[in-house]
Amino acid sequence: MPLAFSDSTLKQIADLRARYPDAQAACMPVLHLAQDEFGHLGDDAIHLVAETLDLPDAHVYGVVTFYTMFRREPSGKNVLRVCTNVSCMITGGYDVLARVCKRLGIQPGQKTADGLFSLVEEECLAACADAPATVCGQKYYLRLDTPAKVDAMLDELARVPEQERVAPFWKAG
Ligand code: FES
Repeated sequence: MPLAFSDSTLKQIADLRARYPDAQAACMPVLHLAQDEFGHLGDDAIHLVAETLDLPDAHVYGVVTFYTMFRREPSGKNVLRVCTNVSCMITGGYDVLARVCKRLGIQPGQKTADGLFSLVEEECLAACADAPATVCGQKYYLRLDTPAKVDAMLDELARVPEQERVAPFWKAG
């Protein structure tokens, strides 16, 4: 059965199209809606978004594969992004990443066997003043300068498995 948007998502897409000047401009928020609905953006979801917005599949594919917030594969419930860019690197970002890898038993790009976490090594999260930083869904974890803070973050996320499902910014207001 071909992939299809729910009626509520189609309504949100119509609202987005009315807000943006053209289909290309609406592509990213519609991709977020698709990712929310289907969990990841496989070829069928990319084709559906392209068809819905009357854009070439290649354009939508290019957007999906350029931005790290779009997932081509099914992810864990919590997608934890650990920054190792300059400000985080010099304040211990690689120590944070190593601690997370050790605790979860996975490497960046992998998912835990229980499906609770996916791990992404990320570029700047725009939280340089509070480095080293991570983000999961909409929640930032800042100044993770001790192993205990990293452990506390992972423990909290394990208790709140719906972190990634928090309403994203383009739905606010
Ligand atoms: S370098 Fe890590 S948040 Fe900017």
